[in-house]
Amino acid sequence: MRVHVLGAAAGGGFPQWNCNCRNCRGLRDGSLSARRRTQSSIAVSADGARWTLVNASPDILQQFQAFAGTWPTDGLRGCGVESIVLVDAQIDHTTGLYMLREKGSPWPVWTTDPVYEDLTRGNPILHLLDHYCGVDRRAIPLDGRVFRPQGAEALEWRAMPLLSAAPPYSPHRGQPVPGDNIGLTIRDPASGRRVFYAPGLAEVDDAVFDAMAGADCVLVDGTFWTDDEMIRLGLSTKRARDIGHLAQSGPGGMIEQLARLPRHVRRVLIHINNTNPILDEDSPERATLTAAGIEVACDGMEIAL
Ligand code: MLT
Ligand code: MN
Ligand code: ZN
Repeated sequence: MRVHVLGAAAGGGFPQWNCNCRNCRGLRDGSLSARRRTQSSIAVSADGARWTLVNASPDILQQFQAFAGTWPTDGLRGCGVESIVLVDAQIDHTTGLYMLREKGSPWPVWTTDPVYEDLTRGNPILHLLDHYCGVDRRAIPLDGRVFRPQGAEALEWRAMPLLSAAPPYSPHRGQPVPGDNIGLTIRDPASGRRVFYAPGLAEVDDAVFDAMAGADCVLVDGTFWTDDEMIRLGLSTKRARDIGHLAQSGPGGMIEQLARLPRHVRRVLIHINNTNPILDEDSPERATLTAAGIEVACDGMEIAL
């Protein structure tokens, strides 16, 4: 199995167009030792030739240009990506669907029922696409049954509901329902190896911990270093947890959660917000992660399992 990180940043990307925080300014003026990152998306393949896209970011055209696995191979039109799986209905995970409208047949799009509701009501992008390529909607089961999205159907995909947050435009924003956000466990029956992917994760309950502990590699929420990161910077009044993200530092934070995993599990943070000090490769926060055996995903990173 191959997992290709198309975009490792959270919503807004890094640097964010309107942000003058230490990280964004430092990246622009060259004073920061850091790499730019596009918005949250990965591609998954069993054979390295046919791919399933997980999340369609606003930066998708740039991401596809940078990754040959998506390029057309034969025929006049084509794409290495055969279907799309969405882990939630957030803007940074869905807006790229608009950019894929030139396809000659409906896109298979896999979503849970609550995400399908949001993407046909509050943000009716799936209906809008009916006027272009169309969408062949497929339901993601929440009870742990295997589903097989086109492209990487040789792999066993399982979803679990997560405590995170529906988008601000969703009627579920304040009243979460199971399936607003999911974590994915993808297993390759050929090798028996598993990856767990959860870019938005506010709480590691027992079920989530078991899924992480059973994986060979976890790609998990790396949005914020501290729970009050946006408040301290004066950028928001909300804590990380309020908007569906578990911060890395502090009691019960992601670093502590990852420390409980069996030693062999590879630990990778993904969906990094531009304010997060771990983006600065010379920061003490980054050194703390490195000492704990935790990696920070970057665009183009490829994980073979
Ligand atoms: C999130 O992950 O919390 C959202 O994607 C934020 C956003 O809308 O950019
Ligand atoms: Mn996001
Ligand atoms: Zn910034």
